[in-house]
Amino acid sequence: MIDGKLIILGIESSCDETAVSLLSCRNYFESSGSSLTDSSAHPHNNSPIDPPELLGSLISSQIPLHRLYGGVVPELASRNHSIALPSLIRELCAESGISPRDIDVFAATAGPGLASSLLVGNTTAKALAYASGKPFVAVNHLEGHLLSPFIESATPEPHLGLVVSGGHTLLIDVQDFGHYTLIGRSLDDAAGEAFDKVGKMLGLPYPGGPEIERCANDEGNPSAYTFPRAMIKEDHANFSFSGLKTAVLYTLPTLVPEGDPSLLSQAQLADLCASFQQAVIDCLTAKIRYALRKTGHRILAVSGGVSCNKTLRKALEDLAEKEGIELKLCSSSLSTDNAAMIAYVGLLKYKHGHIHRLDEDVDPNLPLTQDLNRTKNKRS
Ligand code: KG4
Ligand code: ZN
Repeated sequence: MIDGKLIILGIESSCDETAVSLLSCRNYFESSGSSLTDSSAHPHNNSPIDPPELLGSLISSQIPLHRLYGGVVPELASRNHSIALPSLIRELCAESGISPRDIDVFAATAGPGLASSLLVGNTTAKALAYASGKPFVAVNHLEGHLLSPFIESATPEPHLGLVVSGGHTLLIDVQDFGHYTLIGRSLDDAAGEAFDKVGKMLGLPYPGGPEIERCANDEGNPSAYTFPRAMIKEDHANFSFSGLKTAVLYTLPTLVPEGDPSLLSQAQLADLCASFQQAVIDCLTAKIRYALRKTGHRILAVSGGVSCNKTLRKALEDLAEKEGIELKLCSSSLSTDNAAMIAYVGLLKYKHGHIHRLDEDVDPNLPLTQDLNRTKNKRS
């Protein structure tokens, strides 16, 4: 604690990014009327807190390593998390001018993700909490993405959230912090997964998302190929991207012998990428419109790696203008996996009285609606 500020360290290691972040919250103790260890004073504490201040956020990306294998290799990911984390935390503290002793709360992703990767960040945060006698807070990675567009706010406003990442495509009605209703999801591949698989099909490096965007922007024509927009007119908010992926696969042999992507001309590649990208965007925007009508929300927040895509961002801005709603997006560095979103949700959870035991396991399939608070308000 420094000058009444609460300082929280967030650790993210659910997949192939090792990330750490420090957030501070001014006047926390004055406004909550509680001390750090007095967890019984926290439950459902609705007193306002100041908007948090991002002190620092570092990411050590393993993408170049996994690119050699065309996708994430779980064992390599966890080994590299354990190599990267100690020095990354030291670097973050030094850059932020924070001594590790000043950290009040330790938060880490507990799921969903790769079990062996989750364990590294989770155990590191627990070890730091144990050694310093400070609280540990387990955070759901999806809740991190979902609330990341509100990271500069004391608390998230009610809104419609679209989480569009490599593992998930979810439309969520956010009534309040911790009160979420799933409106729609992908029934097969997540949008980012479809980008990555189509990228691989087209001979592009991992991850496919940014590569497809780069090729599409190389004068690709989004109407060159008519790819399917699955379920776009149906009366629900679910998505399906596997048929779209297959349509790209079946188009390849009509363009080049044996569908060999290395024989595609630059123009063909650009057109395929732009047409695929546009189909994904049309599906996302159609179901957002549906969910906005269903929920009546006037704020749309979009998060997750795919939301870095500039053509998607432009489509979302146009949609927001037409519908007369407010659009909230993060910067690119806070859209892909990062630890600032974990520290932010950790802060909100801590404020609401969630302190987790150190013997709580990680959960590779942790759903967004399941709260890891069976043991809340107890320290082990
Ligand atoms: O949120 P994220 O970093 O990790 C997960 O939680 O999955 O998202 C990674 C996903 C990958 O599938 C990647 O290809 C996709 O986000 N992605 C993009 C772009 N940048 C990252 N997809 C489309 N266009 C982009 N510019
Ligand atoms: Zn993610």
